[in-house]
Amino acid sequence: MIARDVIQQRQPGFQPRVGVILGSGLGGPGGLADQLNQTASISYDELPGFPKAGVSGHQGVLRLAHAGGTPVALLQGRAHLYEDGRADAMAIPVRTLAELGCEALVVTNAAGGLDDDMQPGSIMLMTDHINFTGQSPLFGSLGDDRFVDMSAAYDVELRQRILALAKGMDVDLHQGVYGWFAGPNFETPAEVRAAGILGANAVGMSTVPEVILARHAGLRVAGLSIITNRAAGLSDTPLSHAQTKTNAALATDNVQRLLTAFLTGYGT
Ligand code: HPA
Repeated sequence: MIARDVIQQRQPGFQPRVGVILGSGLGGPGGLADQLNQTASISYDELPGFPKAGVSGHQGVLRLAHAGGTPVALLQGRAHLYEDGRADAMAIPVRTLAELGCEALVVTNAAGGLDDDMQPGSIMLMTDHINFTGQSPLFGSLGDDRFVDMSAAYDVELRQRILALAKGMDVDLHQGVYGWFAGPNFETPAEVRAAGILGANAVGMSTVPEVILARHAGLRVAGLSIITNRAAGLSDTPLSHAQTKTNAALATDNVQRLLTAFLTGYGT
């Protein structure tokens, strides 16, 4: 049985309109998934082709829920390129969301900030990305649709909606370009300087493969980064995953409010 069938068997007739991938700081207990109206909770272990949850702060559970009247599918936890060197580790989860009926995917992550006005706890709406890894989740896929147009990957209309919601909620929302590095080591200061010269406003180790997969599957995409630290070389604070988790919590409330409003209002 494929993952889609397992989900449909568990929750017959449930057709999510939006998928959300919850990154560091957002997928834990008490997080977004727990605040919405729960329908079902399915461990990745039960879903063929879904990743094993490996990184602390990532749970490995698919939650089906309602945000107001909007049926949504929340992926609590993702696999990263650095876990086993595979850029396509999220291919089946993303394609499953599309097969279930999702029209849009919201991706979230933790990232290091380059801009001086993006201190830890800031939120950045992704406007575009730079793939510094040289990897694509579409390596080896066939057919002409593998030549995915990435020129408007981060949906302008969804961005406008999120910006308007943030304004109405008094949430300070930055905008910028996310630079994808492979990890798991943090970047060097020289890499961060280079990324900045090339146009990145934040750097991180995830999300971009999911965005490519989502565009390949025809999903509209929106992305939010939680800035958990100043990127390497920009502050004296040592970088660590513990810091990422602690500082992600600074923005959790606002990101959850924003996402809840976005999901609830989706399609209205
Ligand atoms: N670099 C890469 N990934 C990250 C960072 C960073 O500075 N902070 C949180 N995730």
